[in-house]
Amino acid sequence: MATSDSTQEQHDLVYRVAPGGSLQGDVRVPGDKSISHRAIMLGSLADGVTQVDGFLEGEDSLCTLQAFRDMGVHIERPDSGRVVIRGVGMHGLRAPAQPLYLGNSGTSMRLLAGLLSGQAFGSVLTGDSSLSKRPMKRVAEPLARMGANLTLQPGGLCPIRIEPAKLRAIEYRMPMASAQVKSCLMLAALYAEGETTLVEPAPCRDHTERMLQGFGYPVVVEGNIVRVRGGGTLRASTVDVPADISSAAFFLVGASICPGADLTLRHVGLNPTRIGVINILQGMGADIQVLRQYIAGGEPVADLRVRYADLRGIAIPEDQVPLAIDEFPALFVAAACAEGVTTLSGAEELRVKESDRIQTMADGLGVLGVAHEVKPDGIVIEGFGATGRFGSGSIDSHGDHRIAMAFTMASLRASGPLTILDCNNVATSFPGFAELVKRCGIPLAASHG
Ligand code: S3P
Repeated sequence: MATSDSTQEQHDLVYRVAPGGSLQGDVRVPGDKSISHRAIMLGSLADGVTQVDGFLEGEDSLCTLQAFRDMGVHIERPDSGRVVIRGVGMHGLRAPAQPLYLGNSGTSMRLLAGLLSGQAFGSVLTGDSSLSKRPMKRVAEPLARMGANLTLQPGGLCPIRIEPAKLRAIEYRMPMASAQVKSCLMLAALYAEGETTLVEPAPCRDHTERMLQGFGYPVVVEGNIVRVRGGGTLRASTVDVPADISSAAFFLVGASICPGADLTLRHVGLNPTRIGVINILQGMGADIQVLRQYIAGGEPVADLRVRYADLRGIAIPEDQVPLAIDEFPALFVAAACAEGVTTLSGAEELRVKESDRIQTMADGLGVLGVAHEVKPDGIVIEGFGATGRFGSGSIDSHGDHRIAMAFTMASLRASGPLTILDCNNVATSFPGFAELVKRCGIPLAASHG
């Protein structure tokens, strides 16, 4: 579990996956990471007691939970997936005694940078070696325009030091489609004088907008413009966290590439700003059925059934990129199994995720014999088609959870065993991944060293 003083990083977890597995069954993957972070943040700032069900007990969202405990919020975890937050109100957080350690979690760091810029106390945000390489100027620059007093390390990196400041509203045209930047500025806007206006270049996930409204805070959304006025209060609420479509994505791809697979995924969040992976896979010919669609906690949710299909390569529409931004490692595996060429462009943001996901995936695909060409903002993958297979070999995930899980699914179409290195961070977003894939039919052995 993440603690505020954890500095030890482990890189020694190895997945050894034999070929010949399958995917069968009826599963519910863990809770949505984005929604889990936001539930802790808004629940902590609300007046009253918030109950969260389906909370993701992964390292990233637990870092957020620990950070709020470190700022004096009483948060209980009585049962698996249930979290009870005794909100302290908009001005009830207390100065943390030490730097807030946010592990691998970009969402924790960027959203907290906004939220903490408007507090009456100073704070320092730190993270692991991967987070310490990720760009923080994208939030520091607009926050500085709001009057925030933030200091980054040379190169625009964390630790971020925040001193108390009086914030004012801004109008900001975001240079990239980033929900972390948008949400950071919305959380700062709660503490700013006046109405902040944010313009997104393309729609990206809107969980902060939805959850603020669920906590009774007015947010105006007009197309790609979001407006938030400072000085309001949040009313405690209940949050039902759906299963994370980003975690379900590995199973959607796994079942789509594995002849004979038949898998049902329960209670998957289908927020329209997150369904790029389904749109893209269906564009490639995938057999994904939406069994039952309903609304839970202000978010659309559905059960999905996925079976094998012969996939074909496509030019991925650029408007789908922000809607599938975390799913490209899995989608690259699908593209390799498709008939014909798949091209991705307009996806330079992939280079600044937990790893450079274009290069890390390209290296792994290269080890497995998949022809591809790397581009500055994407990749071209030559699929081997319905009768082809991945080779075998050793793949370095570079500590990127989604790379490790994507290549686990590649084993379903491999001609020999795969060894996937540096898998510890799978626990950041998908606790129990190894056990779940084994239960569904993938022969995976996880070991240290
Ligand atoms: C997230 C936004 C996305 C996504 C990340 C979670 C969020 O990041 O990649 O995993 O919860 O707001 P960007 O905003 O950097 O695209």
